[in-house]
Amino acid sequence: MDRIHITGGAPLNGTIPISGAKNAALPLMIASLMTGETLELINVPRLADITSLLRILGNHGVDQMVVGKRPGQSTEAGQTIRLTASNVIDTTAPYELVSTMRAGFWVVAPLLARFGEAKVSLPGGCAIGTRPVDLLIMALEKLGAEIEIDAGYVVAKTKNGLRGAEIDFPKVTVGGTHVALMAASLAHGTTVIDNAAREPEVVDLAECLIRMGARIEGAGTSRIVIEGVARLHGARHEVLPDRIETGTYAMAVAMTGGDIVLENTRADLLSSALDVLATTGAEITQVKGGIRVRRNGGGIHPADITTDPFPGFPTDLQAQFMALMTLAKGQSNIRETIFENRFMHVQELARLGAKIRLDGDLAIVEGVDRLKGAPVMATDLRASVSLVIAGLAAEGETQISRVYHLDRGFESLEAKLARCGADIRRVRS
Ligand code: EPU
Repeated sequence: MDRIHITGGAPLNGTIPISGAKNAALPLMIASLMTGETLELINVPRLADITSLLRILGNHGVDQMVVGKRPGQSTEAGQTIRLTASNVIDTTAPYELVSTMRAGFWVVAPLLARFGEAKVSLPGGCAIGTRPVDLLIMALEKLGAEIEIDAGYVVAKTKNGLRGAEIDFPKVTVGGTHVALMAASLAHGTTVIDNAAREPEVVDLAECLIRMGARIEGAGTSRIVIEGVARLHGARHEVLPDRIETGTYAMAVAMTGGDIVLENTRADLLSSALDVLATTGAEITQVKGGIRVRRNGGGIHPADITTDPFPGFPTDLQAQFMALMTLAKGQSNIRETIFENRFMHVQELARLGAKIRLDGDLAIVEGVDRLKGAPVMATDLRASVSLVIAGLAAEGETQISRVYHLDRGFESLEAKLARCGADIRRVRS
């Protein structure tokens, strides 16, 4: 298994291009199942999760064309993918494919809405919590689906098509909102989604569906109204920048010191995280087409955060922020409210010398003067990148194993960091 070796201590200086958002690209690719015409997606990141979803879509019979790189294009330029679901041959998404990636479950919505049936494996358990799909099922039932759970599969049917309904989520759910948006877009009549997720990725999906002919209002607010249409058509859509990748590199430079321009991204996608970062001593300015993050000298100030649905502090940046706080001058409190078990990075950060105490959903981080490199293990996608950040700031060598977690969500991580002066390399074995 591959490992990443980092020798810490170098500041980061230079430019990092930000890729398209994984968590926007996945539902956008799934939306291709909603029409027989071609959906062209631009700025799709090159990631293992994208490949896994292409496999799921391929199994349904979706034609796929990945457009080749043009001469002169940098290796990090996002890819263009054309998906055409004109000949769907199978409405079953099997366990072997869905168990590798939770978002694969969301195919249930377009399959059910367009073909009146879907049989989709329940997604596998995930390391960061139990992550049930009860709210996704509730939304589809409200829209008139008949749903049974049979031998680990969700079997969904509708006799005369889905019907518009009022869906009031008792808890904000990104996946639930994606599923409700897709299903309601092809239902008869009007659907109102209350307590909808307001994440930028939900807005991106809604904008793409609108380009495909859907009638959606209010995406980005907690009340979305959808007027169902009989069919959707092809479209061309550019995936929005990855706010989690943006925040991750911003935290890396806040920790190592240096001066980085994050290109092809937008500060408004992660204002809450950037605001907190500014209070820790990083200097953040908006520049044309991106964000500049600097920390030259001066210590890292402690700050308290609580993860919350958008526009709050994102749970997907909690581990990275904790890495930063391990070197703060004082104590910081980090509360995780979205997932009940998203602190697996704590014991790995402790191997580098971090002082962190857990009390339920609260992590109390006592800043130390220095971290020291050590062998550590990546446990999930965002936790593993927190170890990279800590390794970049630690003295000596950090070796990270199980890096396949990183490959699920960070495109060209070593190359992007190495170009900015980091001593980081992948050792293949
Ligand atoms: N929940 C339920 N029942 C449901 C659905 C969700 O109880 O039917 C709970 C979850 O267990 C969790 C909370 O609701 O406690 C929020 O979950 P949500 O549905 O919003 O999460 P998700 O859609 O499964 C997406 C991202 C995650 C990100 C969360 C929260 C994708 C592919 N995944 O997951 O990203 O953490 O929203 O923002 O978009 C990652 O990229 O590393 C990642 C885990």
